[in-house]
Amino acid sequence: MILAIETSCDETAAAVIGGRGEVLSDCISSQMSMHAEFGGVVPELASREHLRNLRPVIEQAVCDSGAGMDQFEAFAATCGPGLASSLVIGSSTAKAMALAAARPFIAVNHMEGHLLSPFIGLTDRDGPEPCIGLVVSGGHTMLVHLLEVGRYQVLGSTRDDAAGEAFDKVAKLLGLGYPGGPVIEQRARDGDPRRFDFPRGLMGADSFDFSFSGLKTSVRYLLDKLGGAESDAQVMADLCASFQAAVVDVLVAKAVRAAGVYGGIPVALSGGVACNLALRTRLQQELSSAGIVCLLPQPRFTTDNAAMIGYAAWCRHRLGFSSPLDHDIDPNWRLDQPAGGLASGPASG
Ligand code: KG4
Ligand code: ZN
Repeated sequence: MILAIETSCDETAAAVIGGRGEVLSDCISSQMSMHAEFGGVVPELASREHLRNLRPVIEQAVCDSGAGMDQFEAFAATCGPGLASSLVIGSSTAKAMALAAARPFIAVNHMEGHLLSPFIGLTDRDGPEPCIGLVVSGGHTMLVHLLEVGRYQVLGSTRDDAAGEAFDKVAKLLGLGYPGGPVIEQRARDGDPRRFDFPRGLMGADSFDFSFSGLKTSVRYLLDKLGGAESDAQVMADLCASFQAAVVDVLVAKAVRAAGVYGGIPVALSGGVACNLALRTRLQQELSSAGIVCLLPQPRFTTDNAAMIGYAAWCRHRLGFSSPLDHDIDPNWRLDQPAGGLASGPASG
């Protein structure tokens, strides 16, 4: 069994993963409502909350799993990317537990956690397989060629805002609060996605990069022209639906093209935006008509959680990876970067 901790942003989370990669417990304490007041995550408040909540969250995760403390084979934590003052709390805790138990510590890249999350609970597969990962979160948007666990080639990423960030910023412009994704999705349900013609950034470009800042600016110009949208529920719904459609169009088109370029390998969707039903449905439809397998994560593993960190650690542990106890956090740790040259194991991740 592996105990995993996630504290990279505004969720304090711990999970226990069993010997076959199954999730035995998954406990999250969200700070979302606290940060909502400020329209985004306040790093100083986030780290204080992690300090307060981490111990009870770990105790709950251990208790729910039914495991004894002596049953853990390894201790894992997110070491980047994320907020430095938050990362350090979860990673120091996991290292201390590993040291006390004389067991290995496994540093996990938060984006690797997202990337591998669609494979959690797939009993017909023995772990992750080669695929195109479409990772869409609040901080990142990228297309990744997953060759094998620990070998990732980033094909493209956002040149400005991440998709989730665009949802959050547009929701703020519309006065809908934070986080923006769920509320925009909800408003969009009653809206006409064709009413407003928003730009599809880099849609026709050869590269697999994304750009969402032009879309956000278009929403702002439109709002100026309309004199706001708060007073007209239909305009608000149409605006949300049209914005969402623009984001979904680009994400789906690029993912389908990438899968085609790499020989029709499966596409695995992940990240906080992956719980958006419009995105899940469109991606599945387009891939299915192209004869490509679509792997969707369970909704509970889309937004930040420790189960995905534990699952990534489990994948690494069975390949013999571990990290030294002086493995530092890296707020900008790139997915395709070895762990600062510090990770030990048969091959550097
Ligand atoms: O992966 P995540 O929990 O945190 C990061 O690692 O960034 O993603 C959070 C992001 C937020 O920007 C949030 O607005 C977005 O995921 N999100 C959604 C939905 N639920 C969360 N975006 C679109 N539709 C949703 N239903
Ligand atoms: Zn995340």
